[in-house]
Amino acid sequence: MGNWPAKGNSNEVLLKGRRRRPGEPPKIVILSDIHGNYEALKALPEAYDELWVLGDLVNYGPQPAEVIEFVRKKATLVVRGNHDDAVAFDRDPRCSPAFRRAAEETRKYTASVLTNKHKEYLADLPHYRWVRRGRWTFYLCHAVPSDPLHTYCGGDAARWRKELAVAGTDFLFVGHTHVQFSLREGEQLVVNPGSIGQPKMGKPDPTYAIWENGSVTLHGYKYPVERTVERMRSMPIGTVEQKLLIDVLETGIAPKSNKERSHV
Ligand SMILES: [Fe+2]
Repeated sequence: MGNWPAKGNSNEVLLKGRRRRPGEPPKIVILSDIHGNYEALKALPEAYDELWVLGDLVNYGPQPAEVIEFVRKKATLVVRGNHDDAVAFDRDPRCSPAFRRAAEETRKYTASVLTNKHKEYLADLPHYRWVRRGRWTFYLCHAVPSDPLHTYCGGDAARWRKELAVAGTDFLFVGHTHVQFSLREGEQLVVNPGSIGQPKMGKPDPTYAIWENGSVTLHGYKYPVERTVERMRSMPIGTVEQKLLIDVLETGIAPKSNKERSHV
């Protein structure tokens, strides 16, 4: 992953969309894993015709309600992440050991600041979406098509070949790992836009993808991470978990447990 083009910080005006000529395919912004980081989300410096969100709107971060409201108003397509599922149904998000306690503690906090309507919104999110735009087909899910909520799959080309066969579309959009990548297999492309709210690309910059006229480009941007960190400091969670989450936000590096790669 190289350096992405520098873009400015928050500009709500840009998010109102753009003019599109009749018959022109939409410009689609695809993002994932916002994790209650509203400061990062509202700084997204991109105009779009459609916004697609690949799950994990909530947990870990301090402003899950604001994130849900934003996504509910602006997104065209949204799928459920393992943390949305965990908060909506009060069950285990099945994190790696490195994040288990942080997920558990912030889940209690998240549930305490969401209304029943917010939880119903999360509970109603679909596991996947299959859609068409113009002559292109798209499959969206949080993890992988064969297990939309939980299975971790990095850049393993052989595994993605199987998952692309399950999807059967021109484009497969996934999140879950917080690591941005794209991988072509024949005529199909799998794209992970990375994470808005807890990126793990070795720097704190949120990342996203743009689909436009059959092509996908990968992007990132700066945001005032210190504002999210400040809010995290006042979250009612343990100091160890707080430190872990702040470290990940500030460095873009996930702690690894002894025997396995961390994933969220
Ligand atoms: Fe996530």
